[in-house]
Amino acid sequence: MKPIERVVIIMAMKQEAQPLIEEYSFHKLPKIFDVELPMEAYHIDKEGIDITIILNGRDRDFQLDSVATQPATLAAFLAVQHFKPDLIINAGTAGGFAQRGSEIGDVYVSNRYIRYHDRRIPLPGFDKYGMGNYPCINASKLANVLDMKLANVSTGNSLDITPTDLAIINIETPVVKEMEAAAIAWIAHLYHIPFMAVKSITDLIDNDQAVEEEFIENLAIASNNLKKKMFSIIDYLVGKSIEEL
Ligand code: ADE
Repeated sequence: MKPIERVVIIMAMKQEAQPLIEEYSFHKLPKIFDVELPMEAYHIDKEGIDITIILNGRDRDFQLDSVATQPATLAAFLAVQHFKPDLIINAGTAGGFAQRGSEIGDVYVSNRYIRYHDRRIPLPGFDKYGMGNYPCINASKLANVLDMKLANVSTGNSLDITPTDLAIINIETPVVKEMEAAAIAWIAHLYHIPFMAVKSITDLIDNDQAVEEEFIENLAIASNNLKKKMFSIIDYLVGKSIEEL
């Protein structure tokens, strides 16, 4: 049981990451990725653990944060190539379900596996391939000690939801819906690197408010709660092995 030495935290939106970067005084690493790529890296050494945040960075054409699965896959690949992490964490925001106990600002830890809800390929074998079902670590002790809820994480490339997406998401309970975790979990799975997602709730999918309004309204509170929990998680990792999480 080897203590964790290197952790990479992958985050999509600067606003989600900024409170954590500031509170822990992460310093920006000089351009380490190819100049064409938008990804940025921030680093701290926390009591012997090397911790790097990779931000997906700004899309050159749209001047917006690079969200969803395409940049997440690339960020995860860069994480593996440049930092050889013992653990990859995808931290960010998600939609929750009020009827399943979610409240705005709740922070969830991923449970069991990460699935896609919008890669529907109704061909033999490809139906399961589309869903992914990539593993994540069992972090139930961590969740218990740090008073965090566990949920299956479901990934898709849209902020809104279609009835078909909802039917697939509804197979799981509890569940949170977001836009990056499965892409990162796939890379972690390919390289046999333990993976977990930490997701803070900005919006409730089963209420009447438009998701885009609710997301913007609650992004600051969710990012602040995410920072607090990530702070506790980073403290908790010190001296522990993956098996102890
Ligand atoms: N991130 C925050 N809320 C989300 C939602 N409802 N769907 C996908 N990603 C999200």
